[in-house]
Amino acid sequence: GGSRYEYIQVSEPRPGVGQVTLHRPKALNALCTPLITELNAALSELNASPTIGAIVLTGSERAFAAGADIKEMAPLTFSAAYTGAFIESWSALTTAVKKPLIAAVSGHALGGGCELALMSDIIYCTSSANFGQPEIKLGTIPGAGGSQRLTRAIGKSKAMELILTGRSFTGDEAERWGVAARAFPTYEALMEGALKTAETIAAHSKVAVQAAKEVVNKSQDLPLRDGVEYERRVFHSLFGSRDQKIGMQAFAEKKKAEWSHE
Ligand code: HXC
Repeated sequence: GGSRYEYIQVSEPRPGVGQVTLHRPKALNALCTPLITELNAALSELNASPTIGAIVLTGSERAFAAGADIKEMAPLTFSAAYTGAFIESWSALTTAVKKPLIAAVSGHALGGGCELALMSDIIYCTSSANFGQPEIKLGTIPGAGGSQRLTRAIGKSKAMELILTGRSFTGDEAERWGVAARAFPTYEALMEGALKTAETIAAHSKVAVQAAKEVVNKSQDLPLRDGVEYERRVFHSLFGSRDQKIGMQAFAEKKKAEWSHE
């Protein structure tokens, strides 16, 4: 049998690196509910895989994702959205996935597509990528965290301008504003850059990597004093890991650390 998935593709392009490719080309990877269900299943599986150390989430050269599925949303009622907890399942991305997730964004990343990228741990993009929160033009607002995550990333005034006008921003702007960690000149360079970074992360101690991701993410939720205290507790806890002993001993012996991932 072929792939278990209809709307995504899953691969392991490099040692320790899982890749999920959104693949709904006819709709520019519009994020219908079944696509999100598949994405959650694939990410949970990669998260549980003992060999995978980092995950790259990407779309096509033309579109990372053009948003939530407008045709699915058009007839939705308040009660159906409310009682069905519409969009809530998207949050699994930020709670169930403990391994670093790099979004490699080329082409359109609009509405829910932009929000999906913002949920990832690192955004890499092409210079010409087309980010935006155009929901206002559809008579609605961001619903998957865009008003919160974009505002934290670029500040209130800029986020307000973008969300109220629906204007797009480029990959180069995303990099300049700190939304994206890096913008690449071509799609090929983007994918190479994302896979290389994922490979670098996957070569580190899985325990330390998971702890690092956890504490950085806490900075988005906690006041500074609580965040610093949280970091220190987790830092202390890593003295209970084998990999801390392995890493520091390897340094002392001028050797390469061979991680136990324990
Ligand atoms: C459903 C979509 C879609 C979407 C594109 N398509 N975006 N279908 N939902 N979000 C479909 C089109 O209907 C079309 O299908 C096919 O994909 C190709 O799109 P075209 O428009 O023909 O391509 P192009 O002319 O190149 O324009 C690209 C585009 C445009 C600028 C990205 O498609 C566009 O504006 N899309 C909508 C972007 C948007 O508003 N996103 C936010 C959605 S709201 P057919 O069958 O006609 O060939 C949102 C809410 C988030 O995301 C809150 C909760 C998560």
